[in-house]
Amino acid sequence: MMTDPSMNLLYKRHVDLLKNVLLNEFGTENGLRIAYLLYCMDTSQPYDLDKVINIHRHQADKVEALRQDPNGQHNYRERMFGFPYTMIGRARLDSLQTMVETVLCENISGDFLEAGVWRGGASIFMRAMLELWEDSDRKVYVADSFQGLPPPLLQQDENLNFHLDPTLSVGIDVVKGHFARFGLLDDRVKFMPGWFEDTLRASEPSQLAILRADGDLYKSTMDILDALYDRVTPGGFVIIDDYGAIPACRLAVEDFRRAHGIDQPIHTIDWTGAYWRA
Ligand SMILES: C[S@@+](CC[C@H](N)C(=O)[O-])C[C@H]1O[C@@H](n2cnc3c(N)ncnc32)[C@H](O)[C@@H]1O
Repeated sequence: MMTDPSMNLLYKRHVDLLKNVLLNEFGTENGLRIAYLLYCMDTSQPYDLDKVINIHRHQADKVEALRQDPNGQHNYRERMFGFPYTMIGRARLDSLQTMVETVLCENISGDFLEAGVWRGGASIFMRAMLELWEDSDRKVYVADSFQGLPPPLLQQDENLNFHLDPTLSVGIDVVKGHFARFGLLDDRVKFMPGWFEDTLRASEPSQLAILRADGDLYKSTMDILDALYDRVTPGGFVIIDDYGAIPACRLAVEDFRRAHGIDQPIHTIDWTGAYWRA
């Protein structure tokens, strides 16, 4: 029987610090610093060192706007340039914590898999939680092209040109390096590089307690659900990161659930994240 550490004060402090770091909550201003320097370069202006150092005074309104938006709904560019390890924001990371704890407390069998990992932060968080709970056998599967999104091929994804956005392309060595920084790059982390349609039907993992789908597009979301939904243990969690923000993603979920007669209620996490229990 696994010991539940979640009432321990040190555990709470540790998990909170981990989330602070993964979300770049301590370095919010750095994204504004880089955006300011890029602006100077783009407009051939000399930079003002005082603005770089004291950005909190020069752009107090923008600093405040970022702080007031912990769930990452606005100011994408400024947040990304702060280089968080994950873009999912506070509420979705808090919710992921609750799901991992629920799976471990209720002994729901299966591994954890994130499809669409970007810089790896949400997957790093799941691996870190397993370590804190002294879980000795669950694995974390990390599935991504590691070269950004595919171009939109289906009509449902028309005009979703995320493949043109270089901020969405993060190489596998970079992601492995991020796991290593947290001391969590070990044989319990399994990388699945390539397009979802080619990689997710592999025989492993055979059972999932958490399936985190974060592929943005209709096709990517459908590829994830088609390949993996049957492997989610009853009571396990299916998380759809882009359910609120991207109508094409939501449509894929609705089509899939209708086709498979899934009527478990969908719960909203924040402005975009949603989940249901299988
Ligand atoms: C929005 S990002 C994921 C954000 C991440 N979960 C986080 O915690 O910040 C979307 C990711 O999905 C990947 N992706 C989208 N569609 C894909 C596909 N069909 N095959 C492989 N990777 C895909 C992209 O490479 C990108 O890394």
